[in-house]
Parts: sequence; C-alpha cells; structure tokens
Amino acid sequence: MLAGMAGLALDRAPPLGVPLRFLLTAPFLAAGAGLAVAALGPAAVTARLAGPAVAAAHLYTLGFVTMVMCGALLQLLPVVGGGTVPAQRTVAAVVHALLAVSPLVLGAGLALGTPAATAAGAALAAAALAVFCAAGLAGVRTCARGQDTVRAIGLALVALALALAFGLLAALARARWAVPAAPWGTFHQGWMLLGWVGALVMGVAWQVVPMFQMTPPYPPAARRVPLAALLAGLVGWSVARAAGSAPVAAAALGVAALALAAFALATLALQARRRRRLRDATLDAWRLAMLALLAALGCGLVAAVRPGAGPGWAWAAGTLYLAGFAGSAITGMLYKIVPFLLWLHMHRRLHPRPGATARVPHLRELLPEARARRQLRLHALAVALLALAGAWPALARPAGLVAAVAWTLLGVELARAALAARRALAAAA
Ligand code: HEM
Repeated sequence: MLAGMAGLALDRAPPLGVPLRFLLTAPFLAAGAGLAVAALGPAAVTARLAGPAVAAAHLYTLGFVTMVMCGALLQLLPVVGGGTVPAQRTVAAVVHALLAVSPLVLGAGLALGTPAATAAGAALAAAALAVFCAAGLAGVRTCARGQDTVRAIGLALVALALALAFGLLAALARARWAVPAAPWGTFHQGWMLLGWVGALVMGVAWQVVPMFQMTPPYPPAARRVPLAALLAGLVGWSVARAAGSAPVAAAALGVAALALAAFALATLALQARRRRRLRDATLDAWRLAMLALLAALGCGLVAAVRPGAGPGWAWAAGTLYLAGFAGSAITGMLYKIVPFLLWLHMHRRLHPRPGATARVPHLRELLPEARARRQLRLHALAVALLALAGAWPALARPAGLVAAVAWTLLGVELARAALAARRALAAAA
C-alpha cells in the first residue's frame, strides 16, 4: 500500500465499479474534444464563443473534467470523510450514463445550431449534475465534521449547483427558448471554472499532494485563507457584475486570482520539500498543473487589462487553466488513483482472510512509471501547443491532434491497468 494512507477509511470504499467507470471513460471524451479542436482549426481560437467551439469545450469540461471529478468524489467522500453517499451504485450508474451522453447531444446542438438538441443536451447534463449535487451534498452532511477537504468539496458542490443554473439559462437563451443571453454565460463560466474546478482541485490537493507525493502537509492557513479568498472574490465579482460596477468586479476577480496563485505557490513550495527524491510522473503532472495555473492567471490578467489585445490571450488563459491546470492535476491523480483502486479491489478479493497468500501486483506493475511518463510528455506538448495557438491560431489543428493522441493514450494506459488487474485475479482464481 502507499505510505501516508493512515487515517483513510478504506473499509468504507465503494465497490470498484462505482468510481472506476467514470475514470476509465473520461479520457476518451477528452480525446473527442481534442479532435473537435483539430477539426475547427483557427476558428476554435478566433470564435471562442461560437457554437462549435463551445461544443468542443463541453466535451472536455463535462465529459472529462466533471466526469473524473464526480467519480473521484464518490470515492473520496466515504474514504476521506467517512461519509455515506446515498444509493451510490444507482447514482453512479445514472450520473455516468448521463455525463457520457449529454456532452455529445449538447455539443451537436450547439455546433449545428439546433435549438431542440441544445435544450435536450442541456437538460440531460443538468439532470446528471443535479443528481450528483444532491447525492454529493447529502454525502458531505454525513462526513465527520471539521475536515478542510470535506468543507471544500461541499463548497465546490454548491458552486456547481449555481454554475449549473447559470449554464441552463445560457443554453436556453442560445436555444432561443428563454431569457436574453446577457450575463448568464459569464456567470456560468466564472462559477464553473473558479468555484467548481478551482475550489475542488484545492480541497483535493490538501489530501492527495501530501499523500501521493510525500510532501509535508499544507499548513492550516495555506488551506483556509486561499479557499475563503477565492470564494469571497467570486461572490464579490458576481454581485458587482450584476450591479454593473466594473471596477469592483475587476478588483474582486483579482482577489480570486491571487488566492489561486497563493495555492499554486504553496503547492510548488511543498513539492520542493518532499521527503522522497525518486522521480514520479504524478509529482511532475502536479508541478505542470501549478505552473500552468500561474501562466493562466498571467494570460488572464493581460486579457483583462488590454481588451484590445485580441481573443488569443483569453484563449491561452482558458486552455492553460482547463487543459494545463485541471487536466494535468487530474492526469497526475489518475496515474495513482486508478492503480490504487484496482489494487484495493484485488486485495479485498484475494486476501479475505489473514494468512491468504495469493500475490497482488504492485501499483507500478499495473501502470508502469515509464508508460505514465511517456503519456505525460505528450500531454505537456499538447498544453504548450494549445496555449501557443492563442498567438498563432494555425497551431490549433496540430494542438488538437496532439491533445487527442495524449488523452487517448491516457485512456489506453488506464484500461491496460484494469485488464492487468483482471488477469491477475483470473490467474489467482
Ligand atoms: C448542464 C451543463 C452545462 C450547460 C447547460 C452549459 C452551457 C453553456 C453555455 C450555453 C455556454 C455558452 C455561454 C455563453 O453563451 O456566453 C457555456 C460556456 C462555457 N461553459 Fe458550460 N455548460 C454546462 C456545463 C459546464 C461545465 C461542467 C463546465 C466546466 C467544468 C462548463 C464550462 C464552460 C466554459 C469554460 C464555457 C466557455 C466556453 C468557451 O470559452 O469556449 N460548462 N456553457
């Protein structure tokens, strides 16, 4: 087992299929997003909010980022927080199926400008996220009190519910079924990116960075202050935006950005003080995530203070945040969490009694370091090309293709790990 896992309630872990289906499906939807960017070419950058580009964005944000985060939370809430997600098997089956299908329907509607498909895709995605928010928040309420990670998960779920409502209004506006488009899309993006993704990655990092990367723990102030500042900035920005006060909105957004920068710098500082010196793909993926977050904030600042600088800065900020920050942190987590879930499952099946001797393969036999590292190199190249496409939109095509290959490879490596575990179980039987 991995060091640093003391304190986890592993006996409360859900059945393997509950989280695993999310983690094994998600990379292939991300690969679809890469192909969509490749097909769009420079228009992905220059017409970022046009239907086809928003469709590609949701293959990634719904199909990959949110898919993995839902699967991971179904595991983390019981194991880290000691909580119980009600009807976890049914929730997992329903949410997974809806999250796999809805980005395709929503994407087709947005890309082809078909109001009925846009509304149907939005309704399917909304059903998935509403079920997940309700089950997740019910799970949070049953967790032991006082854990920072659980508190961050709860706040991220509330942000997801709000962002979902804004996204629905934006989608209905696009489908020309309701309310004017005005600020719904902007609020939706802010709450999804900073609230759902930002707060959740922060809260999960406090748990998994020390555990998987052998770093010292985050000091309490380095956990609580950035999270509080991030959410205060987000609320302040929304209120000021709704009231039409641009300077206050910009200042509040600045507070949220500083909170994320503080989180990235604290994580990099902890990684520099890690106890183990061995190279590790998860560590490098999280380093890449934190550097990409800092770069995203820099590009976002340029886009905000120089609106005349063109759409490339906002594109670079968005891709560095979503593919570079969220995508790398998720990738690093998948390299560890998937082999660990498989290992735990095999251990339960093969060692039900003390003294049982069947051999359980080690985590690195399930997903060898060299293969994870090869995938990570491709992923880093994809992130760099995607960001550079902001300055040179012609790079969007190769960037999308490299991203598609990198995410397919991630899916293949995780599937190979699952097959290796299945073979080991069959051999032991
Ligand atoms: C029910 C689910 C969702 C619906 C109905 C939805 C709907 C939409 C719509 C209609 C837009 C266009 C905004 C505009 O017109 O200004 C949009 C943009 C966006 N959404 Fe969502 N969304 C959903 C889920 C998500 C999730 C889960 C995320 C992130 C984790 C996300 C992130 C974004 C981003 C980043 C953009 C901007 C796209 C770009 O810059 O190309 N959305 N969404």
